[in-house]
Amino acid sequence: MCGISAIASYQPVAKKLYQCLINLEYRGYDSCGMAIFDQQEQQINLRKNIGNVEEVNAVENFADMRGIIGIAHTRWATHGGVTPENSHPHFSNDSNFVIVHNGIFSNYQSIKKKLIAEGFIFSSDTDTEVFANLLQSKYQEVNNVELAFISALKELEGSFAISMICTFEPEKIYAVKKDSPLVLGICDGANYVSSDINAFIAETKDVILLDDYEYVILTNKQYVIKSLADQKIVKKNIIKIKWDQQTAQRGGYSHYMLKEIFDQPLTIKSAMHVSDEEIKKIARKFIDKSQSFLIGVGTTYYVAMVGTYLLAKYAKLYVPAISSDEFPTLVQAHSDQHMIFFSQSGETYDTRMAIKVSQMGGAETSAIVNVVGSSISQMVNDCIYQGSGPEICVVSTKAAVSQMVILYRIAMETGILNGTLSIEKANDIQSNLKLLPDIIEKLINEESGFIRQLAQETNQNKNWLFMGRGIYYPIALESALKMKEVTYIHAEGLPAGFLKHGTLAMIDDSLYSIFFLPANDGSELYKTTLMAIEEVKARSGKVISFCLVDDLETQNLSDHYFVIPDVDSDIMPLIELVIAQLFSYYSALHMGLNIDKPRNLAKSVTVG
Ligand code: AGP
Ligand code: GLU
Repeated sequence: MCGISAIASYQPVAKKLYQCLINLEYRGYDSCGMAIFDQQEQQINLRKNIGNVEEVNAVENFADMRGIIGIAHTRWATHGGVTPENSHPHFSNDSNFVIVHNGIFSNYQSIKKKLIAEGFIFSSDTDTEVFANLLQSKYQEVNNVELAFISALKELEGSFAISMICTFEPEKIYAVKKDSPLVLGICDGANYVSSDINAFIAETKDVILLDDYEYVILTNKQYVIKSLADQKIVKKNIIKIKWDQQTAQRGGYSHYMLKEIFDQPLTIKSAMHVSDEEIKKIARKFIDKSQSFLIGVGTTYYVAMVGTYLLAKYAKLYVPAISSDEFPTLVQAHSDQHMIFFSQSGETYDTRMAIKVSQMGGAETSAIVNVVGSSISQMVNDCIYQGSGPEICVVSTKAAVSQMVILYRIAMETGILNGTLSIEKANDIQSNLKLLPDIIEKLINEESGFIRQLAQETNQNKNWLFMGRGIYYPIALESALKMKEVTYIHAEGLPAGFLKHGTLAMIDDSLYSIFFLPANDGSELYKTTLMAIEEVKARSGKVISFCLVDDLETQNLSDHYFVIPDVDSDIMPLIELVIAQLFSYYSALHMGLNIDKPRNLAKSVTVG
């Protein structure tokens, strides 16, 4: 977790490195720092501190730093508290080597002990600092930077993306990766290393993706990529990135979360543009393999659950959703299985581990991922890029809804292959999905005022229940997660049918329950959800409902309601989710919270 960056240039790098830090800040933001080689002084200068990038810059004044080669880091602590000493970069004892690291060295303690016995002194509690001192120790043995770098890496276990500069070869950046992301940006006059493309996208769109166990030595005019195993040169293609910086910026919205909620009409369109061939390829695997699972974690677990309901409905297949972190405990992987993974970032540790377990058992793997070139996209047999553009807010909105849209398409295709869904019905649903962008756009523009006002009225709440049945159950879970993430207020998602089996005891006139309803078509799903509303009202509980515009029965029972226009029932769950996202956003806005970077969270959870 965190962002690393490095630049080798002909020009001073401090300002550009600072911009990289700003662009990477969503990856981790408890502290940050920068180290730059100063040619006049022939030494590396280092500045770092705790706080977000702007706060640290106000104290450390990064732009002052002289030099044309440097490294930078925004941290999300895994080992050692949030202190100036634990911030990166980390020097070796002799200050000749300086490094930034994303990941965890799992065997750092034994190496630290050994180094202390050799006389090294440690100034931080991080796992990272061992690498800096190990480098110094190895260099003393072999007197060669590249060999020292390789030999130090061979001793370390765990996950890492590292960038390093040193006084012995002050024109070079060394960088390497294993299980943490790292990309190179190539352009005239400067070369870049970073955890992701966002850091340097304004400077270059020519990118090289490093694979695990590859390292790069890069100067301002050239780069060479080698394999850690045998130091042989590896040839890699330069990829042209289509995103521009504008896309990655807030575009006038007060927060990325709001921008990303309003991006959804567009991102749903991109999800609809994923090619039929890609959709069919994955659908086919649900038929060909004897068993399949849908896997994600956090929001993407709820995305996976939505998939379970869609496959049950359209393809009459039960495909369980499993949270990535529980997957290794629950599943014995084998070759007659198909696992489909969901990840916005494509870097989530728990999901990567679930993929590894699946692959070790010989299972077929697919993924739906947003970030191009991310680890997960490279690991699986087949990857669909959802094309939602950068999602900067830590809290996922547009990426999740787009994945759900892709799941609708996969489930329908599987239903057609399975003979459980007619082509006519599939075409019908497909047409309704195509209407979604316009419906959502109109709705969020029209209803924003009411949603905002209700968020203000309910601002003193200390507890929420979010309930739905069938596919509305994962929608309720995801909506509750949004509320918790941005408001820090307790919100519990549960199946509406479960309420009377215990949670009902909590209901009184101070507790708000939010209900996600299906169309009022007389179905069991509708009737039983309405029954749960009655149970709450009978105990003087407060009710907010999401319901169709003509659902007067629900509206009469509810204290407040969000109305869904007269749309086809198949697409209602997605519309309700988008409104719930907006409701969470406005609830947090009234509380004056740091919506795009909620406390204790980070965008890309690359540690276990
Ligand atoms: C979403 O709002 C959360 N921040 C979190 O649950 C996230 O969805 C989860 O960590 C999975 O991330 P991924 O999609 O990048 O794999
Ligand atoms: N393990 C390192 C630390 O705690 C790096 C964490 C990160 O990836 O941000 O400092």
